[in-house]
Amino acid sequence: MDDILKVAMPKGRIYKQAAKLFHLAGLPIPEDLEEGRRLIIPVPEARMEFILAKPVDVPTYVEYGVADIGVVGKDVLMEENRNVYELLDLGIARCRMSVIGLPDWKQVINPRVATKYPNVASQYFREKGQQVEVIKLNGSIELAPLIGLADRIVDMVETGQTLMENGLVEQEEIFQITSRLIANRVSYRMKNESIQRLCDMLQAVLPVAKV
Ligand code: PRP
Repeated sequence: MDDILKVAMPKGRIYKQAAKLFHLAGLPIPEDLEEGRRLIIPVPEARMEFILAKPVDVPTYVEYGVADIGVVGKDVLMEENRNVYELLDLGIARCRMSVIGLPDWKQVINPRVATKYPNVASQYFREKGQQVEVIKLNGSIELAPLIGLADRIVDMVETGQTLMENGLVEQEEIFQITSRLIANRVSYRMKNESIQRLCDMLQAVLPVAKV
């Protein structure tokens, strides 16, 4: 195993906050990584290599060891349930997973629940002893109750703006979401020193990080 640390970074809303945190910790992640089209960015002076991935794929890259570590939201971790170590709560990209519906929603038998998170939604309603039909969608989940595809949705709420603009209300919070640092189990043993050092550097700036 080479001694370059391969880091899977999620494209999109988490990236900028993660980049800021890495910078604060003195780790040289390029801040404009997302602006180009390159997917693999070596930073040889730090013996690191950044891999830009779709957020939902980060735990897969880490589980299979093509990335040693990765940054990923707790929402994706819960949904994907991959065999990885969760090392650190980075406290960034804070939001929540919630059950959402129209304000005049009424309980029906076997309601339809639309979501990007079918495993999370199924587990939540199973644990509550409620039978539901889960419908997997890939985005714009808020459409589902508005056009009659589903009775409720399970989705991420950050500012609440999407709900407000579409006349929907949050009914129940399922769990809080922040981004986590995860590691491949073998890498964690083989590259323990460099992974632990990076983890410590990030942890040291968490109390002062206003991201
Ligand atoms: C997410 C989520 C909500 C929205 C919540 O969607 O699915 O729709 O953000 O954010 P808010 O509370 O700040 O409005 P995303 O932007 O990832 O796009 P998507 O609809 O394609 O999933």
